[in-house]
Amino acid sequence: MSSLLVDNIGELVTNVAGSGVGAPLGIRRRAAVLVEDGEVAWVGPAADAPAADRRIDAAGAAVLPGFVDSHAHLVFAGDRAAEFAARMAGEPYTGGGIRTTVGATRAASDGELRATVRRLRAEALRQGTTTIEIKSGYGLTVADEARSLRIAAEFSAETTFLGAHVVPAEYAARPDDYVSLVCGPMLAAAAPHARWIDVFCERGAFDADHARAILACGQALGLGVRVHANQLGPGPGVQLGVDLGAASVDHCTHLTDADVDALASTRFDCMCADGGHTTTVATLLPGAEFSTRSPYPDARRLLDAGVTVALATDCNPGSSYTSSMPFCIALAVREMRMTPAEAVWAATAGGARALRRDDIGVLRPGARADLIILDAPSHLHLAYRPGVPLVRQVLHNGVPR
Ligand code: NIG
Ligand code: FE
Repeated sequence: MSSLLVDNIGELVTNVAGSGVGAPLGIRRRAAVLVEDGEVAWVGPAADAPAADRRIDAAGAAVLPGFVDSHAHLVFAGDRAAEFAARMAGEPYTGGGIRTTVGATRAASDGELRATVRRLRAEALRQGTTTIEIKSGYGLTVADEARSLRIAAEFSAETTFLGAHVVPAEYAARPDDYVSLVCGPMLAAAAPHARWIDVFCERGAFDADHARAILACGQALGLGVRVHANQLGPGPGVQLGVDLGAASVDHCTHLTDADVDALASTRFDCMCADGGHTTTVATLLPGAEFSTRSPYPDARRLLDAGVTVALATDCNPGSSYTSSMPFCIALAVREMRMTPAEAVWAATAGGARALRRDDIGVLRPGARADLIILDAPSHLHLAYRPGVPLVRQVLHNGVPR
């Protein structure tokens, strides 16, 4: 068993509540982290660091847990740059372009889809993302959804069946039949490759009754629930997610007071290592508002109500073609009035909560050795220096990348 010491860390973000300073980040100064067997073995003052087989000198820089991107749509073909240009010239975003990507995805080979996922996964890793959730949702046939998830599972354990992304054109006149297909043969083919089920619950996609039926079918097969909710307007998605014990409701751009109250009151028992509880997380996706020129979600209202907030990229070719968690952090701070500490927490520990994981998004003994060494002395620089590639080195499962 070989050991690796990350030494001479100027600012270590642990996300361990009650340790160090700078709540909620649990910051330690002049620290070191020992890695063994892909896990964090020890965290403490650099002056007390144990001996190790190898050493990385962080040279006084900031180190933080790898980003946890809990919402991404990486299995697709083609792009929609022209649709983006039209939006920037004043066209609204309606989600109607999803069907364009469905057509391109169905026409692509497995090899083409795999190459796109590989490229985007590598792009995200270079920017510090060590865990990424990957959804299907651009196949919308039994075979295309199953192959999307098979390919996704080659790159991540966090795979999500989104057969209910939109009703595909061939079912436009009979949406009930499409819901039956999703709940029956499509889910049966997809579930072996998925950990989660998601539905786009929105006007023009799936209404509350259809969404509830589909999510319940997924739950019956052991899948965890997540919901695309309240993105384009107010709607039933958030409260449906809370009702079903969803790990996360995502977007949350248009919320009523009742939606915020429902989220703030969620509290489920969990087997967390810290003995804590779990909630329905509100996952905010500011890349989507950026790229659709829409008003940003009101993060302050959620945080002030005590809701657990995560940040994710929503990486997809239509509404948010970015794989960059640092970009999302910068947007959240500048445009959504999150503090830099809240945004960094939401992009690491928050994403882990949204995936119901307690072994990532945190640096404590026993956690995955997923961490980022910045080219900067502090986590503040992620928002302070927007657009600058500040990730100097990534350790994924303890392996330098
Ligand atoms: O999360 N809103 C639904 N799905 C994606 C967008 C998909 C697309 O436009 O291709 C989202 O924003
Ligand atoms: Fe999405």
